[in-house]
Amino acid sequence: MPTILITGAGRGLGFEFAKQYAADGWTVIATVRKPEAGRALAELGRNVEINLLDVTDRPGIAKLARSLDGRAIDVLLCNSGMIGSREATVAEADYAVWHQTMEVNLMAPVAMAQAFLPHVAASGQKLMVFVTSRMGSIAQTTGGSMIYRTSKAALNMAAKNLSIAFADKQVAVIVVHPGWVKTDMGGPGAAITPEVSIAGLRKVIAKATLADSGHFYNYDGIEFPW
Ligand SMILES: NC(=O)c1ccc[n+]([C@@H]2O[C@H](COP(=O)([O-])OP(=O)(O)OC[C@H]3O[C@@H](n4cnc5c(N)ncnc54)[C@H](OP(=O)(O)O)[C@@H]3O)[C@@H](O)[C@H]2O)c1
Repeated sequence: MPTILITGAGRGLGFEFAKQYAADGWTVIATVRKPEAGRALAELGRNVEINLLDVTDRPGIAKLARSLDGRAIDVLLCNSGMIGSREATVAEADYAVWHQTMEVNLMAPVAMAQAFLPHVAASGQKLMVFVTSRMGSIAQTTGGSMIYRTSKAALNMAAKNLSIAFADKQVAVIVVHPGWVKTDMGGPGAAITPEVSIAGLRKVIAKATLADSGHFYNYDGIEFPW
């Protein structure tokens, strides 16, 4: 069965991804920041491996990549993310939050992609998936949430760049919007459940090939404009 590495798998969408892929028999390499966050994951089955990783810890990323040397990873799923702030502008006091949000939403997925390129290139599916947001689409923006929107727009550009950089290794890079989902981030009033979002995203991931690299998909498979 294929192998998937999922960041931020202890709760929210990351946990639902781990749950559904584990139930399907995939080997799931899950990362969480704190040991407590791994408890529910540990109950998903013996095919779930739990690793501690704060995605802003670049030596930690390198260490994890080394510990998985020689393992093929079919899908690298960079899911960890933070909202930062929902304010329309960046007040002076929020620059530290903006910086941290860029670390988590932009630099961490790029660092993961670079560290795990050999593992993904050695696999069958050769796919990297960045969980972005429709809020990072410049074409569709309605304003507001300056910090989150800029971090996800930058992630989208990074994904497009990496899709070009990794093409010679036949590694595809796509970005996906999960919908507005009932998680800690999406809130209880969100439009859809994690079950629906992830079931849809798994279909998008299952059929993604090199021809999809550098494209931006909704959880229902519809392509978004950048
Ligand atoms: N929910 C939505 O409506 C929605 C819509 C569009 C896009 N998204 C995107 O979907 C992804 C998952 O969101 P969610 O709704 O599941 O959010 P969530 O419930 O707030 O969960 C966020 C996840 O990211 C992890 N994380 C945050 N900072 C991290 C760090 N420095 N290192 C490692 N992990 C870190 C968290 O781990 P801890 O438990 O350790 O904090 C948690 O697992 C995010 O990229 C988000 O931007 C969500």
